[in-house]
Amino acid sequence: MSSQTRKSPVSLNTLTRMKARGERFASLTAYDALFAEIVSSSGIDVILVGDSLGMVLQGHDSTLPVTLDDMVYHMNCVRRGNNGALIMADLPFMSYANEEQSLESAAALMRAGAHVVKLEGGAWLAESTRLLTERGIPVCAHMGLTPQSINRIGGYRVQGRDPNQANDMVAEALILQESGASIILLECVPVELGRTITERLDVPVIGIGAGPHTDGQIMVMHDMLGITPSTIRVPKFVKNFMAEAQDVRGAFEAYAEAVKSGAFPAPEHCFT
Ligand code: KIV
Repeated sequence: MSSQTRKSPVSLNTLTRMKARGERFASLTAYDALFAEIVSSSGIDVILVGDSLGMVLQGHDSTLPVTLDDMVYHMNCVRRGNNGALIMADLPFMSYANEEQSLESAAALMRAGAHVVKLEGGAWLAESTRLLTERGIPVCAHMGLTPQSINRIGGYRVQGRDPNQANDMVAEALILQESGASIILLECVPVELGRTITERLDVPVIGIGAGPHTDGQIMVMHDMLGITPSTIRVPKFVKNFMAEAQDVRGAFEAYAEAVKSGAFPAPEHCFT
């Protein structure tokens, strides 16, 4: 068995030091104890308990039906299996519509074992981010394509292609960092925008479809295992690591290795 034992648990400081040294880190979603154990002992630094579970586990066509109770349940499962990875958990749709609600919802996820909570949005999250951070709850701000706003955006498409929209996104990322965000996650943006935001920020930036220059990469586990539900179109930024692996652990290890060596994402996984 090739499972790895960690020397020490991954923390936000670990990721900040990795960014300073120019070392890439790998992140993956997991939703239960067994996969959390395999992911976290395969060289993957960050587990996301993502509200993508609404689509890959629950069979919905968006993340909107996922509830805070669902997230707390899966967070508890992942915590039991985790072997030293940093765990982020999504605040689901409408669980952070105002500051007070953000605090209550985030507290529920932290009590269940999350180390960081993830919220989708831009500068409008500044006050909640400040409040959560001041109360001891680290925040990851998810920008670019934000699936909880899919009805406003109008489809799963690249964000920030228009120069004005790109400039706004850089400005909003800086506001969120200034408000205390510990991590920025960028989904589906052009390579150059991913690079600019990563270079302008001191905090680690995780990308999914945001090009090769972000400090870390993330994927939905089912996508990288080649088992995306048939109702969902496989995005361009996905690579199936199971295709050349002997088993699931081998796929996770190959993904971690490809992220750290810079081999993933390749140009065919990126938007220009
Ligand atoms: O919910 C999720 O899995 C996510 C990833 C797509 C980053 O937010």
